[in-house]
Amino acid sequence: MMNPEKSDLKYNEMLKKKIAKLKQKRNAVIITHNYQRDEVQEIADISGDSLALSQAAVRTDADVIVFCGVRFMAESASILNPDKMVLLPVIEAGCPLADMITPEKLRAKKKEHPGAAVVCYVNSSAEVKAESDIACTSSNAVEIVKSLTEKDIIFVPDKNLGRYVQSQVPEKNIILWEGFCPTHIRVQEEDMVKAKKVHPDAEVIAHPECSPDVLALADHICSTGGMFTYVKASEAKEFIISTESGMLYKLQKENPDKKFYLPTQNLVCANMKLITLGWIAHSLENLVYEVKVADDVREKAKRALDRMLAVTGEKKGAAIAGY
Ligand code: 13P
Repeated sequence: MMNPEKSDLKYNEMLKKKIAKLKQKRNAVIITHNYQRDEVQEIADISGDSLALSQAAVRTDADVIVFCGVRFMAESASILNPDKMVLLPVIEAGCPLADMITPEKLRAKKKEHPGAAVVCYVNSSAEVKAESDIACTSSNAVEIVKSLTEKDIIFVPDKNLGRYVQSQVPEKNIILWEGFCPTHIRVQEEDMVKAKKVHPDAEVIAHPECSPDVLALADHICSTGGMFTYVKASEAKEFIISTESGMLYKLQKENPDKKFYLPTQNLVCANMKLITLGWIAHSLENLVYEVKVADDVREKAKRALDRMLAVTGEKKGAAIAGY
């Protein structure tokens, strides 16, 4: 019998063959986020950042989407593809940042600031998206805020991304939410200072979910997808990457002559790592766990995502998708 928790080289090879067969049988596509385990990224049909994955979900003609990421990502894919079956291989794979806001609390905030536009980071539930005017990802948050006519913007739920957007769009008044990513805030200013001392020739790239003192030490701030583009174009040979450790797999694969370092060793999102090859095979075999959003919520949440995709445009996301 299959053990979805088991992960060793020989067993993984057997699972890869099994997954390839099941994928054909189900007419399925495997979409993975850049923070997934190395062996999961290895079998991806499409991998990328949140924006690229939303766009890939719109474009796919597969019947089944196996989403290797966390729940809000699978939910977005389902919102954009109500007629397709969207599977999250491990139903417990959530996002603590997305859980730091509820639709009730957002409604109360909107009452405090009538006339403000609500921008929600995709790291939020379908219900929160349904309460928002427009969604954004870390790769387009600045562009999305700039596209709005309102001066006052309630930005939820990540305060660090919100602060970063405020620094780039000073003409707007960003009303922040007290949410944060528990993985990104593990990077401390002193980690970065130390890493820069150890690797003096390295360029520093940071995800905007990092805290402001860490971002202040970065040479470049961008989404996970943006990191691939930046590294490829850079003349530098070494990079300190301030984001979840899964990023290093594809950066190293695509840039074998360059070196990558994490500013600290505990940059692991436990939720992202719940998905194993065994759980993907289990998911395809049993068609579990289907992620569906109730129609009334879905329609409103889709408006926020569609509006984002209309601002960002198709071409930009395609360029971000690593594969
Ligand atoms: P990206 O859109 O940069 O991939 O970020 C997603 C995310 O969840 C970061 O924690």
